[in-house]
Amino acid sequence: MLVPRGAHQASQLVGMLPPHRARVIAIASGKGGVGKTTVSINLSTALQMAGQRVLLFDADFGLANVDVLLGLQPRLHLGHVLEGKARLADTLLTTSTGLRIVPSASGSRWLAEMDDTMRTGLIHGFSELASDVDCLIIDTAAGIGGNVLSLAQAAQSVLLVVCDEPAAITDAYALIKVLSTDHRVRNFEVVSNMTRSVSEGRLLFEKLQRVTDRFLDVQLDYAGNVPHDEQMRLAIQQQRPLVEWRPGAPAARAITELAQRVLSWPQPEVPRGHIEFFVESLAAGQGAAPAGHAGAALATARP
Ligand SMILES: Nc1ncnc2c1ncn2[C@@H]1O[C@H](COP(=O)(O)OP(=O)(O)OP(=O)(O)O)[C@@H](O)[C@H]1O
Ligand SMILES: [Mg+2]
Repeated sequence: MLVPRGAHQASQLVGMLPPHRARVIAIASGKGGVGKTTVSINLSTALQMAGQRVLLFDADFGLANVDVLLGLQPRLHLGHVLEGKARLADTLLTTSTGLRIVPSASGSRWLAEMDDTMRTGLIHGFSELASDVDCLIIDTAAGIGGNVLSLAQAAQSVLLVVCDEPAAITDAYALIKVLSTDHRVRNFEVVSNMTRSVSEGRLLFEKLQRVTDRFLDVQLDYAGNVPHDEQMRLAIQQQRPLVEWRPGAPAARAITELAQRVLSWPQPEVPRGHIEFFVESLAAGQGAAPAGHAGAALATARP
């Protein structure tokens, strides 16, 4: 393909500009069903409504469902990008608030199976979008499989969702342990979800912090509490984010506050605060944490 001289010069110039800064936040949990996708969708929407340009990456490759929860029908998804059949920009879905979503496809194991061409395609796809994105939110799968570890390691911040169930705390601990000991992730933000009171949320955080303080070299910060809210279920039936459908609902107000807190976090450092850095780390980190390793870690990581 012939590239006009001016366009070529322009693209060289873009390559010389400092990369645009963005917040890159992985939402993770250890245990399944604690509200990662719910928090991801609502936090992304709240940030978008606060004037940020947000990209929500559905990175639950086992049970991708962000699009389903929002009633969107992707024509193309990340699998097509990795196969070289589509540009990342062409897969994006946009909600009524302007939030953009990178849909994934259920049942895929791409990250572990990526070859060099796929990696280059992925890096190129995200780089093309990077200048237009202030926050990249990544909804990850449950557990401590290789994909989750790679995504959390490459992100700038890890936001852990916990709820008041014994397994939610032990599994969050397992994830923190393997990320800190094997992947050098030291800082974690924690949000309590589906609680019956603000104090229950705070107690949950303190419980988790007590064991991490005792056994691990990590820093945990409490990002906030999202109460159990019946309207969350109704919003899902409407296939709309609660923060947009019923902004006054208790859980919506809590997630809007969470979004404000996220915006008050220090601006991302260079180079970690770049989407390009995230994708390159993601691609480079493959093979560092094969599935067998993660499985073994789960068996040994409990306090
Ligand atoms: N604050 C809340 N109040 C009431 N219900 C909630 C709240 N947060 C999440 N839920 C409900 O909990 C269920 C699980 O939520 P969600 O799918 O977000 O969890 P998940 O951690 O993403 O699960 P998975 O590990 O399977 O990906 C959903 O039915 C959701 O509506
Ligand atoms: Mg989910």
